[in-house]
Amino acid sequence: MTNSRRALIAVLFASLFVVGGSTAFAQIANHPLAQTPPMGWNSWNKFGCGVSENLVRETADAMVSSGMKDAGYQYVNIDDCWQVSRDAQGAIVADPTRFPSGIKALADYVHSKGLKLGVYTDAGRLTCEGRPGGLDHELQDVKTYAGWGVDYVKIDWCHAEGLDPEKQYVKFRDAIAQAGRPIVFSICNWGVKAPWTWGPHTGNLWRTTGDISDHYDRMSVIGFSQNGLEKFAGPGHWNDPDMLEVGNGGMKRDEYLTHMSLWALLAAPLLAGNDLRSMNAETKEILTNPEIIAVDQDAKGVQGHRVWDEGPLEIWVKPLADGSNAVGLFNRGESELKITLDLKMLGIRGPARLRDLWTHQDVGSTQDSYSPQVPKHGVMMLRVSK
Ligand code: GLA
Repeated sequence: MTNSRRALIAVLFASLFVVGGSTAFAQIANHPLAQTPPMGWNSWNKFGCGVSENLVRETADAMVSSGMKDAGYQYVNIDDCWQVSRDAQGAIVADPTRFPSGIKALADYVHSKGLKLGVYTDAGRLTCEGRPGGLDHELQDVKTYAGWGVDYVKIDWCHAEGLDPEKQYVKFRDAIAQAGRPIVFSICNWGVKAPWTWGPHTGNLWRTTGDISDHYDRMSVIGFSQNGLEKFAGPGHWNDPDMLEVGNGGMKRDEYLTHMSLWALLAAPLLAGNDLRSMNAETKEILTNPEIIAVDQDAKGVQGHRVWDEGPLEIWVKPLADGSNAVGLFNRGESELKITLDLKMLGIRGPARLRDLWTHQDVGSTQDSYSPQVPKHGVMMLRVSK
């Protein structure tokens, strides 16, 4: 082949790529979504397959009346089991017993509350609970969701043997762009094939691990293993260490404070996974703490990372838009321990002001270091400002 011929082919190939790529991204660029980590609720952790339109309506009501909406929670997401079959045209069908009014009516109701609706599907043949998956129906399903007014879709990875997640999830990305409705795209393939490497140009968030459970051991293994992934996150594209278990009863208060603090430092999506209709004051206080939520939702959009560890003790830092730092002093040990924050860990010199974000109190200023006692499985969450 001559050089000029080779050059011509290269130009044609490149322009094809740019045109194809830009149609997909143009839609997304017009509707920048998830500029801060998505906040909302998801049915799975508490209710499993026990979803229904009544549950979703009552949850939307509770999100407003409890103050969750005012605190920033927005998406009401139905997880697995809302779908039962496909009709003669291949369109996905919602369970007529549990969702007798249909998903469109539910979306209208949720929207009337100033909230947004999410649904769940799977990139494989079946969902994890054996309901119809989205394989070979990617565009058809996304168009159906868009027609219903869905604002968020979580796409799982069960029954996907032999498929390449990177390729399959791109089909949904392009389907969302083609459907033309701003829909947050949540990739849920549990870290298979390192989604943090291709997730940023595919979806708005991607799960980095297997499922969380309402136990300190599982929550802490997931949360503290996120170090190093911070370079892949930013506005519009977030690592997802899974949904919250706060308020489900399997952890002690200090453990839930660790969960919420760590997720905020990780700039993780904050999807409550408890029963919003019946939460007690303690759960509500943890989920709606404005100073903790401000860390998660900070406009700089930087995911925090670990700056120091010593046995069961860890210090994590998240730089914030105003130049201050959110700092978590974590004690993963089995008894109360003293942890010393040295300002050098933050790359700053004293004096610096310290604020306790759980008690909402200024705890003074320091020239060099600060050494609080931190309870077993607990945390001291600080904002450190010059
Ligand atoms: C997988 C996901 C969970 C949940 C269930 C539903 O396990 O990781 O978050 O969606 O499927 O079946």
